[in-house]
Amino acid sequence: MTTIEARKVKLNPFAASARMRSDPLGLMAQLKREYGDLVLVVDLPNLKSYAVFSPEIAYEILVHQADRFEKPALGKKMMESSFGNGIFFSDGDFWRRQRKLAQPAFYHTRLSTYVADMRQRIDDLLTRWQSLSEVEIDKEMHALTLVIVVNALFKTDVSGLTERVGKAMNELGTAVGDQSKSILDSILPNWVPTPINRRKQRAVDVINPILYKMIADHRAAGDDQGDLLSALMQVQDEETGERMSDQQVRDELMTMFIAGHETSALALTWALIELARHPDAEASLRAEVDSVLAGRLPTADDLPNLPYTAMVIKEALRLYPPASFISRQPAGNIDFMGVKLPKLAVITIMPYIIHRDPRWFEHPDEFMPERFAGEFEKQLPKCAYMPFGTGPRICIGNGFAMLEMQLVLAAIIQRYQVSMTPGQPEIKPVLGLTLGFEHSVKMTIKKR
Ligand code: HEM
Repeated sequence: MTTIEARKVKLNPFAASARMRSDPLGLMAQLKREYGDLVLVVDLPNLKSYAVFSPEIAYEILVHQADRFEKPALGKKMMESSFGNGIFFSDGDFWRRQRKLAQPAFYHTRLSTYVADMRQRIDDLLTRWQSLSEVEIDKEMHALTLVIVVNALFKTDVSGLTERVGKAMNELGTAVGDQSKSILDSILPNWVPTPINRRKQRAVDVINPILYKMIADHRAAGDDQGDLLSALMQVQDEETGERMSDQQVRDELMTMFIAGHETSALALTWALIELARHPDAEASLRAEVDSVLAGRLPTADDLPNLPYTAMVIKEALRLYPPASFISRQPAGNIDFMGVKLPKLAVITIMPYIIHRDPRWFEHPDEFMPERFAGEFEKQLPKCAYMPFGTGPRICIGNGFAMLEMQLVLAAIIQRYQVSMTPGQPEIKPVLGLTLGFEHSVKMTIKKR
């Protein structure tokens, strides 16, 4: 097997940590340029942190040697008080069982049951836009994907329940995002009543009774209501006959919610920004949706006939992968491709940097959806393009997200002309838990 070398960063630690806060993406690009594919960024007695910039090493960690790595303990700690033991952060046999149980909820046949609601929500948005000439597009996409995922999770919309759960889940997500930006808040135990821990608890106190009541109602009704909740409750382990407990169903619902809306909202926002910046690409997309849809809202059956729509989304996901980093920790002290990794090492794989490598992507910083035509993706090295991760822990919602994003983008472009509102600050990606924005993004919209 190939052996590799981890090169240690020789930057002043204070300057590096200030830069990590002010310009983490710039710093990462510089580290790749100056140090290569595997970089030892922090080297303290009890803390080693590595950054991975190459598809080959990413493949070893995420696929070939995936069993030797786990999700990092710090991330688990931040999430467990609110999200319990959902599949995003669990590991080992427990994760394997849960992943197997949750998978059928995302089978292709099942996804089609979510489409009617998605279309309804998209239609609501486009109708509301009729009276507007400018929108904060990031907020619009966030609100749309939030309501879409909440609806897919539980169809029952009892007197504004979707809104109440959505709002509390959103507050929870924002609190977790704020927590991740503060070292102190990240490491303090969950029981310490810090303002952030209290915000998280308040949101959970709103969400829990509603979710448990919905779970109880679904159990009592006993039928499949065509939502993710029903799917998660129905599944049964083939070997043991076991089903998920109420608490586990609740943990998985919370996990799907947090993993399943901001990411899609960001990708859609970036796709719309790049289309506004590239009138040729917008014209090609418009020509495609006009000829295929001829004025009606898209359905799932239309998607195979909308290849350029998919290419635009893939290119937006390449340039701005919402999950810009993927973290792991070794499951024990290990020898990994000739490098001794202690159990406490944190390894950060950077799709954002890997996706912009000129070895595989010509004009890597340019928005060029056509590059995804034909067999392009198939002939890329493994892990050179992985907006949804890869290996056993590949995003369980990738089919859901692609379906949703194609429907939304095709519908918007068909009905509206979008352009960037002049005079706003430069729009740059900002790295947090996801790849977001520093300021809200204003777009001028004109009905066609
Ligand atoms: C553009 C949209 C999305 C992007 C870019 C995205 C990205 C990712 C990535 C990179 C991972 C792997 C993380 C890792 O290996 O550590 C992941 C995992 C996951 N995603 Fe997504 N995701 C998206 C949408 C969704 C949706 C819509 C859902 C659910 C409704 C979802 C649910 C999950 C779950 C549950 C996992 C954990 C899977 C496991 O560990 O077994 N995601 N996602």
